[in-house]
Amino acid sequence: MVEQLSTKTLIWLSGTIMGAIVVIAMLMQHQHDLQSLWLYIEWTFLGGIGIALLYLLYLTWHNVSIRQLERKHRQAEIAKIESEKWAAEQLLLGQQQLDLERLKLEQIKTQQEQERLMMATRWQVQHATIPVGHTLVIRDDQYGSNGYATFQSPRLVEKSEISGPVVPEHAEDEEIEETIPQAPAFPDMCHLISNERMVLCYVKEGPAYGTVDDVLSMAVTGKPGRGKTTALMYYVTVLLKSGAEVVIWDPHGAMAELAVLNGCTLQGLPPTAKVTYLDRKQDIIQSIPGLLHELEVRDTLYRATRQTKHPFLLLADELPVLADYDEELAIQYKAQNKRQAREGEDIESIPSLIKVIRKVVLEARKWRCFFIGSGQSFDAQILPTRVTENFNSRIVFFSSDRRARMSGLENDAIKTLLPTIRRAGSGVMIFDCSRWDGPVIGAIPMITVEHMLAFLQATPTSKDSPVPTSQRPQLHLIEAASSPPFEEAEKPCEEAEEETPLTELEQTVLDLLMMGSSQKQIIQQIWQTTGGDRYVKASAEMQRITAKLLKRKHA
Ligand SMILES: Nc1ncnc2c1ncn2[C@@H]1O[C@H](COP(=O)(O)OP(=O)(O)O)[C@@H](O)[C@H]1O
Ligand SMILES: [Mg+2]
Repeated sequence: MVEQLSTKTLIWLSGTIMGAIVVIAMLMQHQHDLQSLWLYIEWTFLGGIGIALLYLLYLTWHNVSIRQLERKHRQAEIAKIESEKWAAEQLLLGQQQLDLERLKLEQIKTQQEQERLMMATRWQVQHATIPVGHTLVIRDDQYGSNGYATFQSPRLVEKSEISGPVVPEHAEDEEIEETIPQAPAFPDMCHLISNERMVLCYVKEGPAYGTVDDVLSMAVTGKPGRGKTTALMYYVTVLLKSGAEVVIWDPHGAMAELAVLNGCTLQGLPPTAKVTYLDRKQDIIQSIPGLLHELEVRDTLYRATRQTKHPFLLLADELPVLADYDEELAIQYKAQNKRQAREGEDIESIPSLIKVIRKVVLEARKWRCFFIGSGQSFDAQILPTRVTENFNSRIVFFSSDRRARMSGLENDAIKTLLPTIRRAGSGVMIFDCSRWDGPVIGAIPMITVEHMLAFLQATPTSKDSPVPTSQRPQLHLIEAASSPPFEEAEKPCEEAEEETPLTELEQTVLDLLMMGSSQKQIIQQIWQTTGGDRYVKASAEMQRITAKLLKRKHA
């Protein structure tokens, strides 16, 4: 029973018993002196209270210190768990990284092996390792015949053993080819394009039709040589057919031959179809005020009457170059403004090509203004993410996962479609149209500048280039060709109006051009301006005159 009692109870009990013994002993000793007895009792009582208070104090201190110890202990434990968790995460990350590296290494190794095999078949190396599952055509010298061999483990073969191409047993290429659509060349399909309807691209089942609204604003991205510029040329041609007015910024001059279209009226196309082709940095920059003005006019018209003019397309190849121009402009204008501010002159706002693009993509779509831009990447330094995310459609030729993601392609498509188009040739891409359920693999018809000029009936084309109507492939969904444009392609792009004689100003421009002066020099000499609004007006006038001179030259 004593074991069941706690230490505290025992202390209390023994204290009480001792006290009681003391009181009884005193009672017996001082039974005649009650007053002093009472005094003893009082002192003993007070002493007892004192001891109890001290004890309480001790208990409180004890509790507090124990709690503190526990807290410290718990904190130490949490810190330990956290650090263990962190170490485990690091380990996992390291493992994943390693797996990724290993995978990449495997891929490189396979590719290298494949390349060696290809070389081996061309008798360029002495031996090659044949991967598992590949078939090799082996020369049998004894009987002078060829045999086939498939290896279940990688095998080193000598050059003398190989007498034919090494092909994978499961012809992977065939599988891929099945999923990759093919597009006919532009002359073979251009009869499918009408004013109201366009072929967006070719999918496995045939042409995928859409309207101009599907390419309202579009980003074209991909590695060099995959067909970005060709895609732009295709869409320009198709949009011109819908009566669009097109301004082309081509800083690399990849479509320089299109300059002949400047100021031309295009036969057989709606009267609004017009091309302004600019490839020189200065010309591109000087087109900014005119473009902003066009946007403003359209905005005002829309606000006042809810009406829109004909489609207007701004097309930019090599966006990173344009972003670079912007940076240079900013530096140049900042320095100039600083100087002007010091001299008390008005400062000028900095022109920016990317700002024009931003305005077209974000604001101008309801005024039927379009933007199509291409570049190897669309990172935030080139175009703000806000703009990239607002593109209606995107075309991704083969590129890295990261760049495809930056142009706004969903992760699923990156995982499933990107590897497929890697092995396809130029012109095959992932088309992500906002109207469709998801991105698809598509092919763009091959178009050259000559095809384009012939279609627009801008300059005479050689008679043998177009494919006769009878030889055109019968594709799915093809509708009867209404009027194949190539048949009437002999007419140059002159307007029907009769030729007016040259004015004095036009004659002066012609003389200066013949003397080899540049456009800038001529503007400086005649209009005496080097920049600002006056320069823009002068270059517009200059463009009109050169167009007229060109037409006379063609005639
Ligand atoms: N749609 C296409 N179909 C077939 N070949 C194409 C196609 N587009 C491009 N090519 C080929 O790829 C080459 C490079 O195309 P280009 O448009 O200049 O690529 P990028 O602008 O991406 O560098 C072209 O000269 C052409 O031979
Ligand atoms: Mg290009």
